[in-house]
Amino acid sequence: MIEKTSKKTYLFANWKMYLDFDESNILANALANKFKKPLDNIDLAVFPSILSMYSSGQVLHDVGIMVGSQNAYWADKGGYTGEVSMNMLKDISCDYILIGHSERRHIFGETKSDIRKKIEKSLEVGLIPVVCVGEKIDERNSGHTNDIIENQLKTAFENLNIKNDENIFIAYEPVWAISPSDNICDAEEAEKVHCFIIKTMKNLLPKSNIKILYGGSVKANNVIEYISKTNIDGVLIGGASVKLDSFSDIISNTIDFVC
Ligand code: PGA
Repeated sequence: MIEKTSKKTYLFANWKMYLDFDESNILANALANKFKKPLDNIDLAVFPSILSMYSSGQVLHDVGIMVGSQNAYWADKGGYTGEVSMNMLKDISCDYILIGHSERRHIFGETKSDIRKKIEKSLEVGLIPVVCVGEKIDERNSGHTNDIIENQLKTAFENLNIKNDENIFIAYEPVWAISPSDNICDAEEAEKVHCFIIKTMKNLLPKSNIKILYGGSVKANNVIEYISKTNIDGVLIGGASVKLDSFSDIISNTIDFVC
């Protein structure tokens, strides 16, 4: 029997490139209608495509749901065809920025140096970074998870010049457990990696305020297993967050669990 919790819990929804402009706005409206008043001890945030960030954000902000971008570039302005700057996002009331998602690292070739520059810029402009880390299946199977995570954290955060108490989110997303993969990283395994991340971050950034989310095939039927773990502050949900029913079920189950 899993004990209820009163700890602050974060549900972040990564809509990836699943929804077009109309679909995003329809889902944002439906969520805002369903979850009209801010929830005690639960912070919701949605990361729509850039295309619908402004329109979805207006509706979501009205009911206390935050919005974030799935990506942005680190320069302020200039000849960077196809990119959007963090200042531009800040101007349209964006709150968070996902940095270093495995799909960006592995499909778009985002480097550790890009990730570092993006973290620095996000903190400079006042966007809260959600920095994704995670190992691939062969790295996990050969027992190298901690080495990979440590290296990703070091290159992202070592000697980072930040103010005290800066809010930083880290999302542990084992690449092998992200849907449509059938692999499951169970809550015990995720919790162990979260403990390792906490230990590593205490050395790297002792004065920052770090929250750690788990991501990888989170659904209504497993969300409580993850958020009931002491060192899992919340979840980053992809596929199950782009349909009203499945995302609402995740939120409702969390509401029942967090008092
Ligand atoms: P998933 O995606 O929930 O569809 O596995 C999580 C993510 O990639 O952020």
